[in-house]
Parts: sequence; C-alpha cells; structure tokens
Amino acid sequence: MALRILSDSYEKLKLPSAKTVELDLGCGKGIFAVELAKKYPDNLVLGADIMLGRLRKANNKAKHLQLDNVDFLRVEAWCLVARLLPPRSIARAHIICPDPWPKKKHKGHRLMSSEFISRLADAIRPGGTLHFATDAPNYLAATVALIEKSGFFSPQNNALIADVNDMKTEFERLWERLDKRTEHMAWKRLDSNML
Ligand SMILES: C[S@@+](CC[C@H](N)C(=O)[O-])C[C@H]1O[C@@H](n2cnc3c(N)ncnc32)[C@H](O)[C@@H]1O
Repeated sequence: MALRILSDSYEKLKLPSAKTVELDLGCGKGIFAVELAKKYPDNLVLGADIMLGRLRKANNKAKHLQLDNVDFLRVEAWCLVARLLPPRSIARAHIICPDPWPKKKHKGHRLMSSEFISRLADAIRPGGTLHFATDAPNYLAATVALIEKSGFFSPQNNALIADVNDMKTEFERLWERLDKRTEHMAWKRLDSNML
C-alpha cells in the first residue's frame, strides 16, 4: 500500500502480472477503492486522482485498515491511461461520477471522449470490464454512444458490476442526499482478435 506521485516522464507502471488489477479512476477520497480492496484482498486496486489532498485522505483510510492491496496514485488521468499503464493490464476500470462539465461550452473538458475510450480499451485486458457511472443524463448518453461506437466493447452488461452495487462513492452518496440518481453501466472488453 502506498501513495505515489507520478509524472509523465515515468516508465510504464510495473504491475504484478499474476494479480487481478482494478482501477478506480478519479477516486477522490478513495471510499470505493478502499471498499474494493477490502472485498477482494487478492486483487490489486489502483486509486488514481489529480488531487493530492483527497489521495492523502484515501491513503490514510487504507493505512488505518492495514490494507496492503491498494495503491493511490497522484496522476492525471490521460497520462496514466495513455502513457503509464501497460497494455492489457487492467481487469476492471471504474470511472464513477467524473466531473460532468454540464455547460455546453465546457464539454471538451470531459474525460470520456472517443480518443480517451480507445486509450482505455488498450489498457483493459480482453474480457475485462469498463464501468462508468454518472448522475448527469446527457454525459451518460454521450458516453454510452461513444463506447458503443468505439467497437472495443460488447453491449452494456451490468452483471459485470453486480458485485459492487452496494459500494457507494462519496459523490454518489452526495447525489442520493439531493435525490439525484447515479446510473451505472458496464461493458466487456472484446478480444482484439474478434474486432
Ligand atoms: C466528482 S469527483 C468524483 C470522485 C469519486 N469518483 C466519487 O464518485 O466520489 C471527480 C474526481 O475526479 C478527479 N479528476 C478530475 N479530473 C481529473 C483528471 N484529469 N485526472 C485525474 N483525476 C481527475 C477530481 O480530482 C475528483 O476527485
């Protein structure tokens, strides 16, 4: 268990090939990553975020629980996904309540673009899962369209995330208190040979 600060000059991350690696991208204060690490002690969980203060809180939670299977990474999402993650290294990528950028003129700031989805597809192993959740209906619709158009993923299948249904993130809890529903969706990474 560690809190690491990464920059894009680093080499590819070294990840244990024998382990199932789950990624919580934009993990915030790490509630979800910590729950996941507790539930699956044999898996390695990576929690990544750009905000160091949030990651410190996340890391303290993991320390307190003496979890040795969760690493928190201070890194920008594009840098992590496009440069630092080895190809086909991630079994499940969770992107939960990413900043929705609701104003039309800010849509370009959203994380989920067709280019980002194809970089994610490179990092997720064949048969692995992409899990996306948001409270913003138009971000959801746009992302579903991009993922399905990408051709890298099979049609949406929420059975792939049934085991994490009850793990609510900080933002999801916040939206619940405001009576806003967070929709979760998941897709399976197709084998490149099938594309
Ligand atoms: C709305 S919060 C959601 C946090 C958490 N997933 C949850 O549901 O409680 C979005 C998180 O994404 C992080 N973030 C935003 N842009 C990012 C980027 N480009 N790279 C890494 N993290 C980013 C923010 O720092 C923030 O912690």
